[in-house]
Amino acid sequence: MDWKPDFSSETPLYIQIKKFMKNKISLGEWAVGTKIPSQRALAELFNVNRSTVVSALSDLTAEGLLQGNTKGGTKVINNTWSLLAASPPPDWSSYVQEGTYYPNQPAIQHINRAEFHKGMIRLGTGELSPDLLPIEQMKRIFNKLTENSFSLGYEEPKGNRHLREQVVEYLRGLNIHTSPSNILIVSGALQGLQLIAMGLLQRGASILAEKPSYLYSVHVFQSNAIKMIGVPMDIEGIQTSLISRYKKGYNASLLYTIPSFHNPTGCLMPETRRQELMKVCSDEGLPIIEDDVYRELWFDEPPPLPLKARDPNALVLYLGSLSKSLSPGLRVGWVVAPEPVIERLADIKMQFDYGSSSISQWAAAEWMKSGLYQEHATHIRAQLKGRRDLTIQLLNAYLLGIATWSVPSGGFYIWVRLTVDVPIQMLFDRAFKAGILLNPGSIYDRSAGSFLRISYAYAKMHELEWGISKLADLIKEICI
Ligand SMILES: Cc1ncc(COP(=O)(O)O)c(C=O)c1O
Repeated sequence: MDWKPDFSSETPLYIQIKKFMKNKISLGEWAVGTKIPSQRALAELFNVNRSTVVSALSDLTAEGLLQGNTKGGTKVINNTWSLLAASPPPDWSSYVQEGTYYPNQPAIQHINRAEFHKGMIRLGTGELSPDLLPIEQMKRIFNKLTENSFSLGYEEPKGNRHLREQVVEYLRGLNIHTSPSNILIVSGALQGLQLIAMGLLQRGASILAEKPSYLYSVHVFQSNAIKMIGVPMDIEGIQTSLISRYKKGYNASLLYTIPSFHNPTGCLMPETRRQELMKVCSDEGLPIIEDDVYRELWFDEPPPLPLKARDPNALVLYLGSLSKSLSPGLRVGWVVAPEPVIERLADIKMQFDYGSSSISQWAAAEWMKSGLYQEHATHIRAQLKGRRDLTIQLLNAYLLGIATWSVPSGGFYIWVRLTVDVPIQMLFDRAFKAGILLNPGSIYDRSAGSFLRISYAYAKMHELEWGISKLADLIKEICI
């Protein structure tokens, strides 16, 4: 809610708030059944005393629009329309609870909202800083597009042919030899995962994934009634010696992995571990989803070749994306897989959204064809390396003795383990009050309560500096 009362107006604040809420209720934005924020949260949102909020709520309750319950929650029970209507309005809240897609974890809902609070220092965000996004070059690309051939129509089911050809070329550089018919353009790698979950797996199936993993922070598989089984990692990535046992024990259908600059641990799977992983999965007949969205973000040397580059038996479904290296707003990613799989996923995608934005696809193709994408990736690598170095210096300066971490060789993340006993929710709340947004480890693994995912990609350099020193103060304060 962006609205705030007008402090210079002669109308009392509680009347302004009452009017604002009444408006929300009568427009149906707060439908009957909607739980409204707590008095404390409303007072913070509107920048007023709690007593002002209480006055507004009491009036609305007296008018029959709101009702409080014994636990302190308040719900909309009527709207002006329903007060006049003969039959009661639908209870949208019960519909909301019945939808089959899982809601986000509350911590993630909180983070998703708070990321847009002005002035918030985002110490965990998995996105390039606005300073690192190539706005001027993007403008030039769009100008060039509008001067040359470019279509505003729908695209083929597998995506813009021109872009798929560029992706084929790009993948050739990674030793993945494929063709446009084996590629599906998706609206980000996340959509690729959604299509795989819906198109290739039965309800009740199980998939293996690293623990912790990005995959636990979204409910792509769980919402399709697929169980996620976490396989422990060590510093080289997923522990391949456990895979046969887990595959048999859980009758797993697939294994999901992020071998390069893993989210959230930053871990890079070395060559030998990649070979072991391919061997065990091939012996077990266990297909792999290789999520390679961070591949381009290496600092000193490129990561070992993708699993997909050593895949004669078509075991691997490969996911790439421009989100982490160019622009998440383009929403352009790709799935590389055998043709029947691509056709199945493309067919579902057509029913879903009839293709990703054609404008984005044309722009992405131009970035890749012109060589600007590779040039930009070189620039981003240097910038991220500088940010990684600074962040490690800051961790050494402020968190030594109260936390441990390892130094990533690419990607966005440092997986920080707090070695002192700090309730993470309390730390999150105190940091939030101080204007710092954290990504607690439990988002990526329920048992990773003593971890934080620190990202050096998003916050400005001075924000990293202030944020990490403040974080250290808060941890020490809580521990005393
Ligand atoms: C490992 C991994 N895969 C996929 C995604 C989603 O990327 P996209 O923006 O391409 O959908 C993310 C984003 O954080 C990620 O970390």
